[in-house]
Amino acid sequence: MVEGARLESEYTAKPYRGFESLPLRHFCPYDAPMRLRASPSGPLNGVAAVPGDKSCSHRALILGALAEGQTRISGLLEADDVLATARAVEAFGARVERVGEGEWLVRGTEWRSPAEPIACGNSGTSARLLMGAAAGFDLTATFTGDASLSRRPMGRLTAALARMGARIEGGERLPLTLSGGGLGGIDWVNEPASAQVKSAILLAGLRAQGSVIVREPVPSRDHSEIMLREFGCDIVQADGVIALGGERTLKGREIHIAADPSSAAFALTAAAIIPRSSVEVRDLLVNPLRTGLFELLEAMGAEVALSDERLQSGEVVATVRIGHGALRPVEVQPERIPALIDEVPLLAVAAAFADGETAIHGLGELRHKESDRLGAVVAGLAACGVTALTQGNSLRVFGRGRVRGGAEVRAEADHRIAMAFLVLGLAADEPVTVDSAEMIATSFPGFVETMRAVGADIQ
Ligand code: S3P
Repeated sequence: MVEGARLESEYTAKPYRGFESLPLRHFCPYDAPMRLRASPSGPLNGVAAVPGDKSCSHRALILGALAEGQTRISGLLEADDVLATARAVEAFGARVERVGEGEWLVRGTEWRSPAEPIACGNSGTSARLLMGAAAGFDLTATFTGDASLSRRPMGRLTAALARMGARIEGGERLPLTLSGGGLGGIDWVNEPASAQVKSAILLAGLRAQGSVIVREPVPSRDHSEIMLREFGCDIVQADGVIALGGERTLKGREIHIAADPSSAAFALTAAAIIPRSSVEVRDLLVNPLRTGLFELLEAMGAEVALSDERLQSGEVVATVRIGHGALRPVEVQPERIPALIDEVPLLAVAAAFADGETAIHGLGELRHKESDRLGAVVAGLAACGVTALTQGNSLRVFGRGRVRGGAEVRAEADHRIAMAFLVLGLAADEPVTVDSAEMIATSFPGFVETMRAVGADIQ
């Protein structure tokens, strides 16, 4: 059993109405470590099937559970992190029903104290957004997480919610017990940029008296703001200031969730580094606060094309095609990081195939993700024969145009580290094996099938 999975036994194996057809692993503890091996492949070609955006899926369930009436969601990501949120909003009293693949109905309600602790599994977004939303109600709830989530910092979140009037017991890490209700306003500077802390404040603010303002020196993903507006909430965003207005009641509605750019990034980056490849993803969320990696791949020399751009549930969606190019190194400044925060491991992999030194600055937050991603990336690259080092909050990767591979990489029970190094293995001279690949189910259960369908050799 992998360490990062131990506390997953907190999950209760309770299927939803109409939910029984999902693979069992969605309800089970990760009791068996899984290894995957990626072998030199290519070229990759075709259309990659990418599931719904994780950030938007959490938000659709939570806003639906807070809204008056019924919300119908299509394209919901049915991965463990999002299912933790579904279970949680049901425990707070919302009615949740799966009516088809990715099709869910949520009926909102006044939230009440749950009978049992809210098990957030591996999902920081579940923990932080649910604590924010719950803080608005007169209830008490305990939030727990797996070993990885229980190590992650909650201090900024609890400080903000406490300033609004929530009572929180348990320090700066999960498990935490929150008692909500009777909240006042807040004026908060979101630094370093965290979409999760910002979203928690806005969700708590829906039921607070007084003004609720979040200031962002560097913008973080704005899906909460966009979706709150879709649900009828008065919210303004201008010059790095976000403020809730007078109308804070949410009205249930239809939400269509586009494909997740953070998941699409694996097949698209593989296409960028494997000669003669070209891969397309359709209905892809291309919110500019999420597309930092694609912009950098283009700057590095990959072929990047956008077509069929349109608005869907307030978000910009498009078809994105990425093809191989001889990659050049780049220097990335801190203000660009929030728009590629989850894609830094992949950027480091791409940099390993570029000729020369890539420097990525402002990566302090990466130490506090599902693993210490800076440490995991440097160790994984070293195992594969690539020189990389950290200097303070900067990462330097010394690319030589080709990568040896031929190693077993420790994924540190982190889904994105596992997938990024499998992508590296597809383009390396020798196969790469990753451990703790079972964690991929937290965000992208169909990863292996999607990658194989465009020509990747992953076993
Ligand atoms: C997320 C925000 C980011 C990101 C995470 C999802 C969200 O975290 O890393 O995977 O859905 O709001 P931070 O807000 O902590 O940077």
